[in-house]
Amino acid sequence: MRPCSRLNHICQAANEDGTTVSVLTQIKQAPEANPIERLLSATEADMAKVNALILSRADSHVEMVPELARYLIESGGKRLRPMLTVAAAQLFGKGSGSAINFAAAVEFMHNATLLHDDVVDESDMRRGKPAARMVWGNKASILVGDFLLGQAFMMMVETGDIGALGVLSAASAVMAEGEVFQLAKTGDLATTPEDYAEVIRAKTAVLFEAACEVGAMSGGADEAGRQALARYGLELGNAFQLVDDVLDYGGESGALGKNTGDDLREGKMTLPVILALGESNAQEREIIAGSLGDANATAEQVAAVVAIMERYQTLARTTDQAHGHARAAKAALDVLPPSEMRTLLGDVVEFSVARAS
Ligand code: IPE
Ligand code: IPE
Ligand code: MG
Ligand code: MG
Repeated sequence: MRPCSRLNHICQAANEDGTTVSVLTQIKQAPEANPIERLLSATEADMAKVNALILSRADSHVEMVPELARYLIESGGKRLRPMLTVAAAQLFGKGSGSAINFAAAVEFMHNATLLHDDVVDESDMRRGKPAARMVWGNKASILVGDFLLGQAFMMMVETGDIGALGVLSAASAVMAEGEVFQLAKTGDLATTPEDYAEVIRAKTAVLFEAACEVGAMSGGADEAGRQALARYGLELGNAFQLVDDVLDYGGESGALGKNTGDDLREGKMTLPVILALGESNAQEREIIAGSLGDANATAEQVAAVVAIMERYQTLARTTDQAHGHARAAKAALDVLPPSEMRTLLGDVVEFSVARAS
């Protein structure tokens, strides 16, 4: 599948007060468009509202806040989570409405997490540009992340939907827990695949789950529909993070918009490295342990670790696990009546495992 090279276009769109603002926009689908491009097209009208809301809520009289927030927001991102929220609402017949607020809130939660995550991970690049912390520093990144999180909750509260607020609040807490659990496991050679599964569920999959669940709720889903979409999002999120962790070793930095090899240098215990440690001999183990957590590990050192991963096929096996979660995500939709949106959401799953960016 082709990488999503056409997604991140900036255009002018009308804001609520009639002024024009720069927003991410969706590109009209070509017949051969990949599922994400088709999702962009299917959610175009709602996403224009979401993007306008995102930009207006990133505003503040404290200049550094919108400067930093817009730097991140306008540098693109796939907008996958908010699209899933509005698509889930549309699936049950009610797009727009509170789904717009929830979608914007979900993207704010995601962007807040990215600002914090790049500080924690000491990452230099995000969305193809220097990470915000490289421009404004760690302190400003943390604080603007907090601002975005606060704004996210304001948008949720405005809907008056206490049930959905509960889903997203729980997700926010679990995500932070996941990041802390991952931190606690940094460089821990005894980390198990089960530990890893818990980390990715918490730090990534739960937000996908919540994004889909609140979309379904605001779309008027019954209990079975809500559960189906929650399951779909959770499994999609698991697949998404597994692939992200493969791409960190096997991807291409330019397409990804972030540096490859960083997980090794940070000592992040992702599945490719956990599986490699489980099978390697003493000499190979030494090579892995020697680079894991070494911020100055060279490209050659990373390549030596990747060679061990290839020997034991741990990148391919991680991708296989992603495919398993992708199948589970698709299967979760089986209980729903057939519709174009159901088919499209099923197809979107493929993108999450075939993506290069
Ligand atoms: C990055 O998420 C963080 C992970 C969960 C791997 P995305 O890959 O969705 O980031 P953007 O929003 O498109 O930049
Ligand atoms: C992604 O974690 C999940 C969150 C941001 C909570 P990563 O640290 O793997 O994501 P990238 O690689 O920095 O996007
Ligand atoms: Mg990171
Ligand atoms: Mg990563």
